Amino acid sequence: MNLTLKVWRQNGPEDKGRMETYPVSDISEHMSFLEMMDVLNDQLVRDGKDPIAFDHDCREGICGMCSMFINGEAHGPGRGVTTCQLHMRSFKDGDTIYIEPWRAQAFPVIKDLVVDRSAFDRVIQAGGYVSVNTSGNTIDANTIPIPKADADEAFNAATCIGCGACVATCKNASAMLFVSAKVSQLALLPQGQPERELRVKRMVEQMDKEGFGNCTNTGACEVECPKGISLTNIARMNRDYLTASLKGE
Ligand code: SF4
Ligand code: FES
Repeated sequence: MNLTLKVWRQNGPEDKGRMETYPVSDISEHMSFLEMMDVLNDQLVRDGKDPIAFDHDCREGICGMCSMFINGEAHGPGRGVTTCQLHMRSFKDGDTIYIEPWRAQAFPVIKDLVVDRSAFDRVIQAGGYVSVNTSGNTIDANTIPIPKADADEAFNAATCIGCGACVATCKNASAMLFVSAKVSQLALLPQGQPERELRVKRMVEQMDKEGFGNCTNTGACEVECPKGISLTNIARMNRDYLTASLKGE
């Protein structure tokens, strides 16, 4: 395939940035999107130009690093896949592809397609942990029976990889899908009960402090989330937050 890429280039946080056009040729339909970007960067390096900065780590849909807005969609046209799992067979020979970083006030651009998502880390630090003693004389997990439905829901929430596609997709740059997944994975299990109310208060407060917007109830985040995190987690988080507020946590 021969393609035209329109890529966002930005030298640093203060640079205002611009779109640049790059042709790429002989792209196999079996390549992943990131492998196609590698081909372009190889070409740029050989031409003595600055390669495009983009984040990646696992390249198998686990780490959540490969944040890219492709043709106006977070992680591109596929459903339930991250950018690293997107294959070039999703595009046609001769296509023009627009590639941009996540755009949100709380995710400032560091360079080109790389954004700073440390706001997510700070939300987790605010309460996304349990303080039960899990070292030393731990008891066998199976001694605490957990209803299968709760275990499944907790597991589903725990599949959130913190990629930030929900934020990038939301017109308000809301982080509620991410935060609610992190709240829910603990709220649904017995081990998460001791700090349940304090946790939701602290994590929501940190989310607001980081400058993420409010939920718009449009559900775009759920559609674009590569892990299919459900909006029901947001409803659970709102209920827990209300309970915690009424109790004065
Ligand atoms: S909720 Fe989905 S889109 Fe948002 S950070 Fe988690 S995995 Fe990514
Ligand atoms: S590089 Fe890890 S999820 Fe894409």
